Amino acid sequence: MTTCDYRPGLEGVPATQSSISYVDGKEGILEYRGIRIGDIAQHSSFLETAYLLIWGGLPTHHELQAFEHQVQYHRRLKYRIRDMMKCFPESGHPMDALQACAAALGLFHSRRALEDPTYVQDAVVRLIAKIPTMVAAFALMRKGNDPVQPRDDLSYAANFLYMLNEQEPDPLAARIFDVCLILHAEHTINASTFSAMVTASTLTDPYAVVASAVGTLAGPLHGGANEEVIAMLKEIGSVENVRPYIDARIANKEKIMGFGHRVYKVKDPRAETLQRLAEQLFDKEGRDAYYDIALELELVVKEKLGHKGIYPNVDFYSGLVYRKLGIPTDLFTPIFAIARVAGWLAHWKEQIGKNRIFRPTQIYEGPHDQRYVPLENRLQLWEKQP
Ligand code: CMC
Repeated sequence: MTTCDYRPGLEGVPATQSSISYVDGKEGILEYRGIRIGDIAQHSSFLETAYLLIWGGLPTHHELQAFEHQVQYHRRLKYRIRDMMKCFPESGHPMDALQACAAALGLFHSRRALEDPTYVQDAVVRLIAKIPTMVAAFALMRKGNDPVQPRDDLSYAANFLYMLNEQEPDPLAARIFDVCLILHAEHTINASTFSAMVTASTLTDPYAVVASAVGTLAGPLHGGANEEVIAMLKEIGSVENVRPYIDARIANKEKIMGFGHRVYKVKDPRAETLQRLAEQLFDKEGRDAYYDIALELELVVKEKLGHKGIYPNVDFYSGLVYRKLGIPTDLFTPIFAIARVAGWLAHWKEQIGKNRIFRPTQIYEGPHDQRYVPLENRLQLWEKQP
């Protein structure tokens, strides 16, 4: 290996061979198991999509019903997990709470029998079932309320909104939320999925795999960007302020949140769908004051940065949809995690099916043959500096 082989951020370096999803960043195409995301979003449910991603094919009617039933059965949290959550600080970020809960789940199921299909199946079901309950429970507990028990008569998406808002959502809201989960479920080898694969490759348990991926998703350059988008729209405050805001950020070489992508050089197809969903919600519930700012922002960024391939990514419009569904801003990334757990588990299963531990190399840039200085003779770092 020479320095020429090193690519910061591993840009363009294949990390695996996978048949889970496919992105064509020039044409704006995303497929799950070969099926276009638009078709899946139109016809499928999140649980059907999770099944497709994890087991490699669309379920039959019977298989889907069985999967839905298993997930529904495992939605509740053990009282010890709830007790643990009561000790979390109310001001803590829900992503940190979720990471702790996902890891804690492993304490109850840590057999690590990865060769046993029943263990794999149980872990998949438990993680998909319990993560939404954990997110909703923390959201209520930090306000001093008791968590709401899941309702077996509600769909996956409707039940989450019910547990969060303590009231049953209308069917349009539930369907739109379900589509949001489908759109966020998988996206090839992004940072959190890579993190999941690296952790999986040590043959640790799937709860540790998901906990490590949650920690990676939390960062503002990855899943955390959707929160930053809303903060940015608030800061801009009016359509007139968009142009000066963008000019200032470009002049200061600062990123505009919700724009740009390592792979897409056109508008992210998920952003197209999310924008349409936002408009459907606005038609029914009234327009969000930030939407006009967002539209102007997209126009101005396209004008100024379109030549670099900087267009809205998945995070740009998702926050506007979630706001209209009554979801607090700091739950946007945990909701991303509720969806993405399907992709992480698909990659976990693929990884352990053909495992070789990840162990990349480095290009060493430090000194050699340094003299060992006895403790009493050492200078503090600042004394060494000129
Ligand atoms: N605003 C302004 N300029 C940008 C942006 C942006 N959002 N994104 C990239 N650029 C410019 C960047 O300044 C650089 O320009 P130059 O070549 O003149 O120095 C060029 O485009 C390449 O940027 P990069 O940072 O090298 O690109 P990357 O592939 O390493 O980063 C990214 C991809 C998503 C981290 C980056 O676009 C970004 O930070 N965007 C804002 C944060 C964001 O919205 N993240 C969500 C990503 S999508 C969902 C997810 O993965 O979770």
